Amino acid sequence: MRLLVTGGAGFIGSNFIRHVLAEHPDDTVVNLDKLTYAGNRANLADLEGDPRYTFVRGDICDGGLVREVARGVDAVVSFAAESHVDRSLLEPDAFLKTNTYGVYVLAEAVRELRIPRLVQVSTDEVYGPIADGAATEESPLRPTNPYSAAKAGGDLLALAYWRTHRVPVVVTRSSNNFGPYQYPEKVIPLFVTNALDDRPLPLYGDGRQVRDWIYVLDNCTALDLVLRKGETGEVYNVGGSHEVENLALTREILRLLGKPETLIQPVTDRPGHDRRYALDSSKVARLGWAPRHPFAAALEATVRWYREHEAWWRPIKSGEFRAYYEQQYARR
Ligand code: NAD
Ligand code: DAU
Repeated sequence: MRLLVTGGAGFIGSNFIRHVLAEHPDDTVVNLDKLTYAGNRANLADLEGDPRYTFVRGDICDGGLVREVARGVDAVVSFAAESHVDRSLLEPDAFLKTNTYGVYVLAEAVRELRIPRLVQVSTDEVYGPIADGAATEESPLRPTNPYSAAKAGGDLLALAYWRTHRVPVVVTRSSNNFGPYQYPEKVIPLFVTNALDDRPLPLYGDGRQVRDWIYVLDNCTALDLVLRKGETGEVYNVGGSHEVENLALTREILRLLGKPETLIQPVTDRPGHDRRYALDSSKVARLGWAPRHPFAAALEATVRWYREHEAWWRPIKSGEFRAYYEQQYARR
């Protein structure tokens, strides 16, 4: 397949491109990425020079450029987004542009160029907090923060393009991913890298919020399956079925690093913090998917990866990140 991947210089996109080119040696990938603070070409340094891989710097909101790079591809896989909830509370503007308007631009290009597939990568956050049980694909969407509301906009718009224009869309809604190359503003890489430096781990509120964690390569296999075998017009939940409270997760990270729990620093809660997310992933399981990385081993491997890749995260944490972090903590 000839793929256009958007946002492929970020965390999940870069893992996905590496996965696809390893699993499908005849595929080619064009990676269209704006290189925001979260995009990093170093995430795919191993593929630079591979004739199957092309990088194009650009914005998915630029319709002319999108048409240029999308012409002739078999599918568009749309990861490009502003992805961090805390930042969406500070500066929502870019979230609305990329996460909603950008998806409209992609859907229009797919429609006009008659591309056979658009995979829109959405999130479990569009369901909002789930008190009991698990969200199915039929559950109502009740997003609670600017990030998830803008993602819900893109998700619903993509589905609307299927209903109205028969644009061949599939949507995935996955739970919290973790693994290598995740920008260290997100809780697992932030806490691992802070702990490595004996710096405090800022735990929001009472630390009893629950997230359902999935190892990023398990999400990549689900995305690859949905891309090739998913039914057009359908939504697929992709969850790790491993719910953990933030406090327990934090303790486990410290245990793996041999660091004391005195590093845990309770801080003011995130405004509107969703208490719990949970997904019913039986629909994608019926397509033939199952997660292959048990949580404990995957977390251990992830902690080891950050320990062994200081050269990747140190420059990030000393650059733009520092200004953002100071702004965050001026508020708390
Ligand atoms: P990320 O922030 O690591 O990467 C986002 C990438 O998109 C970056 O490379 C960035 O430069 C690029 N980008 C941003 N705006 C762009 C624009 N206008 N045009 C082109 N490129 C642009 O994000 P991630 O964690 O890899 O998430 C990828 C996708 O998966 C997002 O759509 C996110 O909503 C979704 N998702 C993430 C998770 C998670 O746990 N990380 C879970 C569910 C869904
Ligand atoms: O659920 C899927 C979503 O998961 C994705 O759609 C988002 O793109 C992704 O960022 C992630 O959102 P979360 O808000 O769940 O992830 P984050 O890593 O920011 O936070 C995870 C939990 O940890 C959450 O309950 C907030 C808490 N937290 C986070 C940070 C950054 C802390 O307690 N302290 C922190 O410093």
